[in-house]
Amino acid sequence: MTQSADVVAQPTPLEARRSDGLSGRARVPGDKSISHRALILGALAVGETRITGLLEGEDVINTAKAMRALGATVERTGDFAWSVRGVGVAGFAQPAAPLDFGNSGTGCRLVMGAVAGCPITAIFDGDASLRSRPMRRIVDPLEMMGARVTEARDGGRLPLTLAGARDPLPIAYRTPVASAQIKSAVLLAGLAAPGVTTVIETEASRDHTELLLKHFGAQIETVPEGIHGRKISLTGQPELVGAPVVVPADPSSAAFPLVAALIVPGSDIVLTDVMTNPLRTGLFTTLREMGASIEETDARGDAGEPMANFRVRASQLKGVEVPPERAPSMIDEYLVLAVAAAFAEGTTTMRGLHELRVKESDRLEATADMLRVNGVDVEVVGDDLVVHGRGHVAGGGLVATHMDHRIAMSALVMGLASDQPVTIDDTTFIATSFPDFIPMMRRLGADFV
Ligand code: S3P
Repeated sequence: MTQSADVVAQPTPLEARRSDGLSGRARVPGDKSISHRALILGALAVGETRITGLLEGEDVINTAKAMRALGATVERTGDFAWSVRGVGVAGFAQPAAPLDFGNSGTGCRLVMGAVAGCPITAIFDGDASLRSRPMRRIVDPLEMMGARVTEARDGGRLPLTLAGARDPLPIAYRTPVASAQIKSAVLLAGLAAPGVTTVIETEASRDHTELLLKHFGAQIETVPEGIHGRKISLTGQPELVGAPVVVPADPSSAAFPLVAALIVPGSDIVLTDVMTNPLRTGLFTTLREMGASIEETDARGDAGEPMANFRVRASQLKGVEVPPERAPSMIDEYLVLAVAAAFAEGTTTMRGLHELRVKESDRLEATADMLRVNGVDVEVVGDDLVVHGRGHVAGGGLVATHMDHRIAMSALVMGLASDQPVTIDDTTFIATSFPDFIPMMRRLGADFV
């Protein structure tokens, strides 16, 4: 279990050692972004939403608990199978206790949006990592819509009390950074507003909220805006109707065994049902440019979300330039890309990574530190990360994970191919997004001690 800010669990270190070629088939857990959204939209719909393939990680479980606390009926009906009976748009009930989102920025921020359109007051809280993350970017547009923050810690951080709007206003909002969380919060609040709520983004971010809203019967339109952007218009006060949701495997989780297979010599693995929404596949594009052998088969789709099986073989990688406009489509994957870059020949420059500084940790500095303590030549230049790959990594370092699941998993992947083992200080937070990461990687042949 991850801990709330006031409970301290014992850290559990782990060492990853140079492994023989990885082999076998695996299905990584359901997509985290879609899992949160299926629960939230199910809770705002009338009738039943049956979800299969839900990610049963701590982040998503906290969202499920929040939906219950807000009046929806949420039940686990089988392995990764959940049923939600919703309360209808704007129908949330006043929660009896603070909503605790643990480590999850996505759960917290999306639910803030959903609560902002209801005439209730809720306290939002989380662990020490979430308490340190910026929330003004979410509450600014929600206050324009009529919600109010009545209490918050310095600069609008958690714990934060949000009073939803009795009569929410539709707004047209240009997001200050490409963030699906900001966009989604505004759209979820806009569900309760009369008229059309519009979000304009200069660079397109993941569109799972839009796709699921359509799936649940909302009227929502997306048109291009500028070169890389989009304008999304949602007609408020729809009747959302519960609908089945099949959650594909999370490409952000698939990234870990995928990069492991690329860097551990002799590997040949298959990852099944990986979601291939083009707004999430920047890592795969980049790795292919680096020379990765990634074959896609059995392309198919459900409710607007495409998926495929991936066959991945160990590959000789070379350094590349990753353009800043690719960041939204791989924002959570730079850590593990940096690991791949360290094993490549030549320099990889990843540009425009300012958003990495406000994730579960300051991922720009934490990624550089992770590589540095393992003998990799790496620089942070402004908001760019520059990794000078030499085809192998010395290893031998102890990596500080900073309550961040993706640092933990990236460092363990690195240790599977480095000359000396790589140790992480704590595996605890892996459970937020990928509870069976360690056993699944072991089944593929990873040597974790
Ligand atoms: C997410 C959006 C991203 C991402 C996060 C999940 C989502 O954050 O980093 O892990 O599900 O909307 P931002 O939208 O803030 O970039």
